[in-house]
Amino acid sequence: MPSKPIVVANWKASTLTLKEAEKKIIDTYAQLGRDAAKVNLVFAPTYTHLAMLSALFAGSISWKSKKNAKKPKKGKKVASSKLPKVTLAGQDISMFEGGSKTGEVPAEALKDAGATRVIIGHSERREMGDTRDDIVAKVKMALAYRLDVILCIGEKERDSGVEYLKTIIDQVTSVFGAIDKKSHSSITIAYEPVWAINNKENKSLDAHGLHSMVVFIRKLLLERYGETTSKGVAILYGGSVTPDNAQDILWNGEVQGLLIGRVSFEAESLAKVVRAILINPKKNILKTYGVPKKHI
Ligand code: PGA
Repeated sequence: MPSKPIVVANWKASTLTLKEAEKKIIDTYAQLGRDAAKVNLVFAPTYTHLAMLSALFAGSISWKSKKNAKKPKKGKKVASSKLPKVTLAGQDISMFEGGSKTGEVPAEALKDAGATRVIIGHSERREMGDTRDDIVAKVKMALAYRLDVILCIGEKERDSGVEYLKTIIDQVTSVFGAIDKKSHSSITIAYEPVWAINNKENKSLDAHGLHSMVVFIRKLLLERYGETTSKGVAILYGGSVTPDNAQDILWNGEVQGLLIGRVSFEAESLAKVVRAILINPKKNILKTYGVPKKHI
């Protein structure tokens, strides 16, 4: 289980040029300063930018402090030693190994381009035709090439009965049941209720509702695959995460991280989300109500 919260910036098709992608990463780190090291940041840019970004951001982070972290001046390059090392993810992957499959991006090519993770089963891909079996095949392919998987699951709508829970059970078990138990911890589940994604009013699931779903998923993993899987799989939340709701969602929802769409399109708002989650309200509760040591 990760010791730092995971923040995945899913840029979708928002970032059209390499320059723009490069600048967004630099700006994000510049704004965060030392705080950047307190989270596991993952960027999922468009396929064609992966190789250049991984070559450019392969160094080690050396931002001194938020104050000293200067924003690079327009048109001025930052010395390569000052560039952070970034973790990159593909937004999708081919279910095919290679060969005569026009337009496909196979796992090996994705890995060669510098991605270490891949998002699979995003609802926008499911909407464009990815079936349950395609997703299983893609996960198997990613794992075969040692790419960690961010598996998106989520119901299209909430019914008053249990249909939405059945959807979750099917999305989880179709994948976990099809792969070796040893690979289970290479999968991170991103629970993203489809109705909350790209929601015009930024309507996310509330932290209490999320916590119930997290318990449901962990119980499902425990009953079907045992304790190691249930404890070893990180769960993220995605769907209208904003700087205002991020802290509550993460800490009270009891997830290990966030998968962020629109708010990650701008460095400034992404940095705001990261800063918001660095404050853990649960620890504060202990501080506020805990008995000081000298009184025990
Ligand atoms: P959103 O997207 O944050 O824009 O709602 C989340 C996602 O699609 O992963």
